[in-house]
Amino acid sequence: MDPLKNKTKLSVNINKLATIRNARGGNNPDILSFAKKIESYGAHGITVHPRPDERHIRYDDVYALKDLVTTEFNIEGYPTDDFIKMVLNVKPHQVTLVPDAPEALTSNNGWDTIGHQQYLTEIISEFRRNNIRVSIFLNPDIKYLESAKATGADRIELYTEYYATRFASDKKIAIKNYIATAFEAQKLELGLNAGHDLDLHNLKYFAQHVPGLLEVSIGHALICDALEYGMANAVKMYLNQLEA
Ligand code: PXP
Repeated sequence: MDPLKNKTKLSVNINKLATIRNARGGNNPDILSFAKKIESYGAHGITVHPRPDERHIRYDDVYALKDLVTTEFNIEGYPTDDFIKMVLNVKPHQVTLVPDAPEALTSNNGWDTIGHQQYLTEIISEFRRNNIRVSIFLNPDIKYLESAKATGADRIELYTEYYATRFASDKKIAIKNYIATAFEAQKLELGLNAGHDLDLHNLKYFAQHVPGLLEVSIGHALICDALEYGMANAVKMYLNQLEA
């Protein structure tokens, strides 16, 4: 398959906007209004990652976004009971399960799908019964793929921090395991997403070389770029990186 033929979708993670809002306790920036704007600038989806302490996106934001987002709505998070209940109520297009501890600053590892296969299978079957697509966050290592498939997940999201950190020094080495994992995922008919630390420098190379990349979810760098270029320009700049 020619990776250049796949148009990868951009889902914008708006957590950072909520972090700025929460710093002052009011409603500035208004994240609901920004979600609509980001969609109107061409993004294919909106991602939120509510955490138990609600330090950025809050559960009430997620409910408010439910009726507002008209592109793909993706909710990420660790599957606590409260998280699962909320996702089943909101019924987003996609839920991305992440194995991060509540106090983690940001997602910092993929699932051990071998050790947690049974646990994930039970949770995923409930989401699938409710017609919610399920993606699970994974390190780029083919050893996790068969058990990932066995959990019933529709997709995997490759954790791209390793790639992003090594991109500047040796991009061919940095991307090697991602390409291998992507080919193996295709064989198993697992859809492929990716995210974490993707930015205007490293995104294009990743999208051009990783086969079958369906979606990237990008937050931190895009919101930082929006400070310099404006949100409309920033979204368009990221979309341009995804055009072959
Ligand atoms: N994917 C997952 C699972 C994440 O937890 C995050 C960060 O919340 C992202 C993607 C986006 O990462 P970044 O903010 O570095 O673009």
